[in-house]
Amino acid sequence: MANLNSQLFTPESGAVDPSSVPYKTLYTGAKMPVVGLGTFGSDRYNGEAVAQAVKDAISLGYRHIDCAAVYGNEDLIGQSLHDIQVQGLKREDLWITSKLWNDMHDEQNVIAACEKSLRDLQLDYLDLYLIHWPFPNFHAPGVDVSSRDPHAKPYIHENYMKTWRQLEKLVERGLVKHIGTSNMTIPKLKLLLRDAAIKPACNEMELHPHFQQSELFQFVIDSGMVAIGFSPIGSPARPDRDRTEDDTVDIEDPVIIEIAQRHGIHPAVVCVKWAVQRGQVPIPFSTRRSSYLGNLQAVVTDPLTADEMQAIAKIDKNCRLIKGQVFLWKDNQTWEDLWDLNGEITPP
Ligand SMILES: NC(=O)c1ccc[n+]([C@@H]2O[C@H](COP(=O)([O-])OP(=O)(O)OC[C@H]3O[C@@H](n4cnc5c(N)ncnc54)[C@H](OP(=O)(O)O)[C@@H]3O)[C@@H](O)[C@H]2O)c1
Repeated sequence: MANLNSQLFTPESGAVDPSSVPYKTLYTGAKMPVVGLGTFGSDRYNGEAVAQAVKDAISLGYRHIDCAAVYGNEDLIGQSLHDIQVQGLKREDLWITSKLWNDMHDEQNVIAACEKSLRDLQLDYLDLYLIHWPFPNFHAPGVDVSSRDPHAKPYIHENYMKTWRQLEKLVERGLVKHIGTSNMTIPKLKLLLRDAAIKPACNEMELHPHFQQSELFQFVIDSGMVAIGFSPIGSPARPDRDRTEDDTVDIEDPVIIEIAQRHGIHPAVVCVKWAVQRGQVPIPFSTRRSSYLGNLQAVVTDPLTADEMQAIAKIDKNCRLIKGQVFLWKDNQTWEDLWDLNGEITPP
């Protein structure tokens, strides 16, 4: 982004001047606004509702939108992005991320997949393109967590690098400004950092007060990447298939509720403030104007105190919500096998 201008800033009550929103500087010098709007409708919100939220959120001061081919709504979001640019917003003042879905990892598919996202989003380039998951395993949208791809594979670094080389080509061709990863682990990232010609600029990872992933978070920062935090509010509206009995609820945590009451804000907004002050870039989802506006206002008003930050640091419950069961590659595995918990890549 050349600059974070105030063009199309609607000075209506509560809107946030985009030039006042803090940003993260990537290793290229590019600036990413510290809060983005998520666009996964969780099977609850249709593409039209999400696209309308994108358009309205931009008019309220958002400049960072987190998209993905698999969310099935990039064409509708593209219309919103087009409309807003026709009204005068410059492309370089938006930060748009998209992601390569698992069924398009093969070398011959990557560039075509990115071009499809670009066509749908009506853009000439993406600011960031991520490999959505490090597994090439396909599952149809909406299937139960017990569903498995009969051709599912484990993480094979050689194959991941073949995919990565295609992402590097996207940068060389000017279709993408930065490339990055999502749902990675430290051992996988170490191999990628060793072998990449173009370094990952960001890692998108689940991050919320009950799942702080301190070790991976620190590794990402120390490696010169930006940590983008998904499900920053604890994904309270996530699909039923992504819920288990042991899951905890961040916005019902007494520590979060007490801080929210003290500041006179919704517990969700406390999660957004905590995320930004900790140093990650949250991408909260909402189609409700009061919610997405509150999540943007969160980053320019009334910061949490050091004591409040410390109190939240202590409520980590190591509670992963998006476990990824559908990506397992053989029988008798548990979701933990996807996450290299003993510090080594789980063997095939
Ligand atoms: N890379 C990946 O693999 C990956 C995985 C998951 C998500 N993501 C990205 O991360 C984004 C966010 O994650 P998420 O949608 O799972 O969860 P989230 O942002 O933690 O939670 C979203 C839900 O929180 C509620 N909410 C949001 N702001 C609120 C506010 N100010 N006050 C009250 N409630 C509020 C809304 O509930 P109601 O709808 O009930 O209002 C909304 O549906 C996604 O949209 C997607 O872009 C990426």
